[in-house]
Amino acid sequence: MKRGKISSLKGELHIPGDKSISHRSVMFGAIAEGKTVIKNFLPGADCLSTIACFRKMGVEIEQNGSDVTVLGKGLDQLAEPAELLDVGNSGTTIRLMLGILAGRPFHSTVAGDESIAKRPMKRVTEPLRKMGAKIDGRAGGEYTPLSVRGGHLTAIDFQSPVASAQIKSAVLLAGLQAEGTTTVTEPHKSRDHTERMLSMFGVSLQEDETSVSIEGGQQLKAAEVFVPGDISSAAFFLAAASLVPDSEVVLRNVGLNPTRTGIIDVLKEMGADLEIEEKDAGNAEPYGDLRIKTSSLKAVEISGDLIPRLIDEIPIIALLATQAEGTTVIKDAAELKVKETNRIDTVASELKKIGANIEPTEDGMKIHGRTPLTGGAKVSSHGDHRIGMMLGIAACISEQPIDILQSEAVSVSYPSFFEHIEKLAAKA
Ligand code: S3P
Repeated sequence: MKRGKISSLKGELHIPGDKSISHRSVMFGAIAEGKTVIKNFLPGADCLSTIACFRKMGVEIEQNGSDVTVLGKGLDQLAEPAELLDVGNSGTTIRLMLGILAGRPFHSTVAGDESIAKRPMKRVTEPLRKMGAKIDGRAGGEYTPLSVRGGHLTAIDFQSPVASAQIKSAVLLAGLQAEGTTTVTEPHKSRDHTERMLSMFGVSLQEDETSVSIEGGQQLKAAEVFVPGDISSAAFFLAAASLVPDSEVVLRNVGLNPTRTGIIDVLKEMGADLEIEEKDAGNAEPYGDLRIKTSSLKAVEISGDLIPRLIDEIPIIALLATQAEGTTVIKDAAELKVKETNRIDTVASELKKIGANIEPTEDGMKIHGRTPLTGGAKVSSHGDHRIGMMLGIAACISEQPIDILQSEAVSVSYPSFFEHIEKLAAKA
């Protein structure tokens, strides 16, 4: 797909539903008792994979665009799947579902696409095995395909070596089915959508700053879920409006969970012109409207406990940093190497092709600004949705058009991404 420079962006967008929350709403609805109604569900490829997997376990799920109804009959009624559970490109689907499967007294096989086949699974299969699940897979359970025979779990006290909501959630979902109280402790707090949504479904949890405990044997009760817009998707338009001259954009109903708002802190520190109007603090997940205008940016340093609060935004932050005064340093972010692609490598290699001055490091990168982007090259998403979207925004500010290969990867989390750019450009 060839994309070129845009003179200005104006107007407003309703950002599609949050991917993390959409996955959880289907999974928790599937194991709850009763009818769960979900509004503003994200009909992106990843969340559709979650729906397909739970249908294969006998759960009735109706999906009509962003309206979803899940007819849950409780954990005990999940059926042994007759086919492979295919998670597509979705790390959240496979890791959280493994936590559920670990406690089910049946056999299942899970696998996904080429990218999933390279992503580490021992971080989840090891604690689940410790709890009593029988899991096997390539390289001793590190890589897909994985086969699971679950049931008879015992609670554990698990110290996770990384701050990861996928690991934390998998162990908590197994803990829900285990005898005793399971505790997960992380080095830094990761996103807490699982904890918030389990509470909505009537489960009680004990939380402090970096640990969560859950008692086994609790039953989930169906709930009504409103999924706010995905701040990780909004981030691309926050960046676009900051960088494209003479822009002013309003993003409606964006999720503002504090475990996800690192991008807002960083934009403010960089000098972005950003206003936030919180809407309904009463919702299980806070959300609001964001108004952003073009501004002159300066470099920042990003590390430590800020990293899990913006891990998915690092590709777009790298693009912002190419246009900020000074050198931006990102460290403590080695997790980037095990995302949909090695995002330290893909961000650096693709942005360099269009003129950026970036040095990849062991646990992050250094970006030297301001460096005008020349464009005029072929780049690729490498099948990674967030790399595809970052390059889509890079094209808006590049001197010459760029050719983005595998741009269709954006449909994993934001199928209308390129249409939304057109919509804002047309209003300008
Ligand atoms: C997610 C957690 C994060 C994030 C991913 C979604 C989730 O992964 O990068 O896009 O929904 O729990 P990790 O838990 O591996 O950090």
